[in-house]
Amino acid sequence: MKVAVVGATGLVGGVMLKVLEERDFPVEELLPVASERSAGRTVVFKGKEIPVMSMEAAIAARPDIALFSAGGATSLEWAPRFAEMDCTVIDNSSAWRMRADRPLVVPEVNGHVLSANDRIIANPNCSTIQMVMALAPLHKAYGVQRVIVSTYQAVTGTGMKAVRQMENERNGTEGEMAYPFPIDRNVIPRCDAFIENGYTKEEMKLVNETRKILDPSIRVTATAVRVPVTGGHSEAVNVEFEREFDLEDVRRVLREAPGIVLQDDPAKDVYPMPLTAHDRDAVFVGRLRRDETQPRTLNLWIVADNLRKGAATNAVQIAEHLVRHGLLKPRKVSA
Ligand code: A2P
Repeated sequence: MKVAVVGATGLVGGVMLKVLEERDFPVEELLPVASERSAGRTVVFKGKEIPVMSMEAAIAARPDIALFSAGGATSLEWAPRFAEMDCTVIDNSSAWRMRADRPLVVPEVNGHVLSANDRIIANPNCSTIQMVMALAPLHKAYGVQRVIVSTYQAVTGTGMKAVRQMENERNGTEGEMAYPFPIDRNVIPRCDAFIENGYTKEEMKLVNETRKILDPSIRVTATAVRVPVTGGHSEAVNVEFEREFDLEDVRRVLREAPGIVLQDDPAKDVYPMPLTAHDRDAVFVGRLRRDETQPRTLNLWIVADNLRKGAATNAVQIAEHLVRHGLLKPRKVSA
């Protein structure tokens, strides 16, 4: 297959290349795309240096699949142009996620919503992916009614500029700022822009995307916070269920869930952390305990590598699902 990676010089794009290679996705030809700023640059794929190309050149090459991670504005403008050519776009930006006619997919949770007619498929927000991965099997077992989540999000989630800001602060050098304040030795209770209701866009992504993927009747409230961690998002989650649960049974449900690794042995200091989740594709869950202030309520701690399962790995898994289920259309033959 011809596979375009749009945003191939970015943080997520780089991990997409790595994940396509690691998982041996059937790439016959790779088309790495970036902005004009990157003209003349190359990326390395399967040991070969491949020149970065423009959007137009990639469209002219007629890819079967395009993995997009180049920001919302770029997706809004360009994803339809790829889709017109019968290329299936898997988009990591927030541009298409809440459109009723676009699937928003975590393959382990709702891969079944994908069909052969989908030309633009949305990859959820990184914080949403790891949370719904843990909530989906619990929802099935006990019925999730309400979720209170606080996130501890790494700077790689903001992109290259933010990583450089933290490095500059640690080295004592001046440089461009991705955040309105220093991030090193700080905690910033703002991820993405504020909106009229006092929440941030990131917080509302957690609310709306979780409901779209899992169940619109679930009530979610979120506080999203940026912390000086390079990679790996953490979440403290309080979940109220419809039905009573047994903690041992919760552990069993999570142990059996695909893509989840249970790390829950506090006596031995076993719990998920960004450092131990780094470069891994699973979602790690631990610190399971009852909320003793009210019935049928559980506290848990969820960690994942935001560039992997939170972005690149999930996108590649969507592509794998399409291939496995024969959902990719043959490309239009040019006149
Ligand atoms: P470039 O490196 O040429 O700027 P990150 O979020 O890690 O900063 O990465 C953003 C990615 O999206 C980069 O690969 C960047 O390319 C790419 N990108 C941004 N704007 C465009 C655009 N208008 N067309 C194509 N690629 C873009």
